[in-house]
Amino acid sequence: MRLLAFETSCDETSVAVIRDGVVVSNVVSSQIKLHEVYGGVVPELATREHLQNLPSVALEALRQSGTKPDELDAIAATQGPGLPSALMIGLQTAQAMAFSLQKPFYGVNHHEAHLYSPWITGVPARACFDTFEPSVSLIVSGGHTLLVHVKSELDHRVLGATVDDAAGECFDKTAKMIGLPYPGGPALEQLAIGGNPAAYMFPRPMMHDASDDFSFSGLKTSVRYFLRDNPSIFSSSSGLRDLCASVQSAIVEVLVTKTVRAARRLRVGCITASGGVTCNRSLRKEMEIHCLKNGLKLRIAEPAFCTDNAGMIGILAERKILKRVLSTGLANEINPSWSLD
Ligand code: KG4
Ligand code: ZN
Repeated sequence: MRLLAFETSCDETSVAVIRDGVVVSNVVSSQIKLHEVYGGVVPELATREHLQNLPSVALEALRQSGTKPDELDAIAATQGPGLPSALMIGLQTAQAMAFSLQKPFYGVNHHEAHLYSPWITGVPARACFDTFEPSVSLIVSGGHTLLVHVKSELDHRVLGATVDDAAGECFDKTAKMIGLPYPGGPALEQLAIGGNPAAYMFPRPMMHDASDDFSFSGLKTSVRYFLRDNPSIFSSSSGLRDLCASVQSAIVEVLVTKTVRAARRLRVGCITASGGVTCNRSLRKEMEIHCLKNGLKLRIAEPAFCTDNAGMIGILAERKILKRVLSTGLANEINPSWSLD
């Protein structure tokens, strides 16, 4: 099967070609530079940028894969969740293409695609569902923090989510408070290098709470008060390094502790993770250490499939089509608040 997939849920314009479980091309045009000056994603600008870039991104994905439009068997797009007008650009472009080529159109859930992205691996990148095993999956991005029990392929149950800020948002907002550029996560990680993670003890909200939910707004507020009470830290590069390392350590410890605890409780042998925050090397390292200690396998999405990309959308759509659990629908509309079950 040859499938063309579109992803425009936030600030990444992406189109991929999938052929029989292989991601043949996965073109991503990031809007980070555009939103940088505003310190966050501006929905109107994101939408305009998707509209402008989508045709060339789609043509490039087809060119790189050597696919002609009439050779496609199906077209898929992210239906939700995401920014309404941004989603609309990808979905309607995909539907218009499916209509004109007389091919079936399929809409998929962005988070469900993240859930299975750790199973995309190798060169060329291929979905290795033959090695699939039940897992607890952590999805951590700028907008979401989700813990999900994936019982079997395409059968999952959400265990917990953030009750306020997402983990990525906590990285971004803390970084902003200390004057780092957007997106703050990578900048904060960079500044934390060589810092002492035990220098300042920030709260680990809900870490020992009985639920699988998360909370990060208290941590952010505590950093704000710390900066208010210790303004001299702004002129100390070692102080700022220690501060970043300490905040990073608090976020990572909460994510790792709760994910490992859920895996042990549910007696699954594997943890998977994806979303932009999983690019964080400290999170990857701590996950590795704790999985090893607890006899758990660890599968973190490869960097190209961690952040938003159409490759994961296409892989999920193809898998669902093959398993006959996804029905075609040119009339499908965007679903901006579509949450996982
Ligand atoms: O999944 P993603 O690319 O976009 C969505 O939010 O959907 O995730 C972006 C988030 C941002 O909050 C960014 O700061 C964070 O992921 N991030 C990181 C790192 N790289 C990206 N956070 C911490 N450390 C990083 N290295
Ligand atoms: Zn995402």
